[in-house]
Amino acid sequence: MQMFNNVDFDSIDITQEPPEEEPARQYYFIAKCRKYVKEQSERLGRPLFSVVRTFGCQMNAKDSEKLAGVLKQIGFCEGTCEEADLVLYNTCTVRDNANQKVYGHLGYLQALKKKNPHMLIALCGCMMQEPEVIGRIRKTYPFVDLVFGTHNVFLLAELLCRRLNEKGMVVDIWEAARDIVEELPARRKYPFKSGVNIMYGCNNFCSYCIVPYVRGRERSRKPDEILREVQKLVADGVKEVMLLGQNVNSYGKTLDKPVTFAWLLRQVGQIEGLERIRFMTSHPKDLSQELIEAMRDGGKVCRHLHLPLQSGSSRILESMNRRYTKEQYLELASRIREAIPQISLTTDIIVGYPGETEEDFQETLDVVRKVRFDSAFTFIYSKRSGTPAAAMEGQVLESIVKERFDRLLKEVQQISAQVCARDLGTVQPVLVESVNGHQDGYVSGRLSNNLLVHFPGDGSYVGQIVPVRLTQAKGFYYMGKIEGE
Ligand code: SAH
Ligand code: SF4
Ligand code: F3S
Repeated sequence: MQMFNNVDFDSIDITQEPPEEEPARQYYFIAKCRKYVKEQSERLGRPLFSVVRTFGCQMNAKDSEKLAGVLKQIGFCEGTCEEADLVLYNTCTVRDNANQKVYGHLGYLQALKKKNPHMLIALCGCMMQEPEVIGRIRKTYPFVDLVFGTHNVFLLAELLCRRLNEKGMVVDIWEAARDIVEELPARRKYPFKSGVNIMYGCNNFCSYCIVPYVRGRERSRKPDEILREVQKLVADGVKEVMLLGQNVNSYGKTLDKPVTFAWLLRQVGQIEGLERIRFMTSHPKDLSQELIEAMRDGGKVCRHLHLPLQSGSSRILESMNRRYTKEQYLELASRIREAIPQISLTTDIIVGYPGETEEDFQETLDVVRKVRFDSAFTFIYSKRSGTPAAAMEGQVLESIVKERFDRLLKEVQQISAQVCARDLGTVQPVLVESVNGHQDGYVSGRLSNNLLVHFPGDGSYVGQIVPVRLTQAKGFYYMGKIEGE
């Protein structure tokens, strides 16, 4: 019997018309798809396998867990490679190389489908919210079975059912969000840590960024819904949660009863049994003193803050519509460091934004040297159609961008290796995440500041928080030894 939330899918009467209300409607379609999977599996004399591949950010990873959860209830076993009966790509379109990867993979899937004609290929996620992409898929990749977007991920079972009853590609893209259906099964990647959406979408419209167009307007979830979800996760063995949103610092502003993100953080911190709290992503313009204090005082809040800089030039920041200056960013970073000295600061930086001069780039290097980030994700500017920056003059020559990118990376790496070694010799709590795949007899885990540590241990430690002495600093990770052993 397959149960979820006290629903027995096999007892749902699928000879009736589907119910209108959610989530009952999706439960009905899960039951319908189960029948197909069962019959197909009997015919083939083996179980059916599905695989979900995720591109892009934590938000997509969270959606993928929901998609995988529905596929599990439908009766698919989790496959490990693309040679599966159903392949679902949850796509990203933040930079063009993310799109190119998906197109590349589709060529490979076509070959697999020739060998296994009943294979189902499905695409969803941010890339699918772009009309040009849908046009290209219809024309060049007609073997794709199912396409949906970011606003209707919860419809997977219903759309799959439609595909099984219709000929040809099923495409369902919503232009904007409607009600969010949350009570669906999820298949969590880790039993001991989980992402929790606190808001969806983004209203910031940074000039280079496509996310507001493909994820829609900012919507905060109600605090009691979030707290209930975290409580449920903790009861289910979760020790660490990551609160997710494109700009968590503006959480709660548009609720009927407005609250702040700092307030939410304090509430989550009171949940018994929860050990660690992380969050992603913070926009510098909305980072309040109240939040710095909540981080400082909240013992469960991890010593890590990801604070995207994007550029160190106030002129470029203005054109990017980031709404802070170089000086404001530096002041904020030093205020945070002062309040929480052990904190690890990480960032995102874009090189080659339209109009960026050598002087602008020097300003970015200057911030990197002054803040001394623990690590930085560096990106080459990618032109996204429909965004204001795509139409700007002064697109920077590729050779110049590459050269700047290399200089930035070198600087970032040098500083990072020095900064990351700062806890060498100390004993730190580590949440053990996995058995080390490269070195027998070792496990790997994360410090509060998110750095990885490898140390001798076995699978029984996975999911536990243990004290580890950091014995060797290796740049962006440590080697260590459990204290007291
Ligand atoms: N909401 C988050 C960012 C999400 S996108 C924030 O504002 O911090 C993650 C990162 O991708 C961004 O921080 C930015 O550095 C990068 N990025 C976004 N659009 C880009 C583009 N068009 N070209 C290159 N990098 C981009
Ligand atoms: Fe994109 Fe800016 Fe929104 Fe982040 S805050 S998702 S960079 S528009
Ligand atoms: Fe990519 Fe969408 Fe995230 S565009 S970065 S997967 S919100």
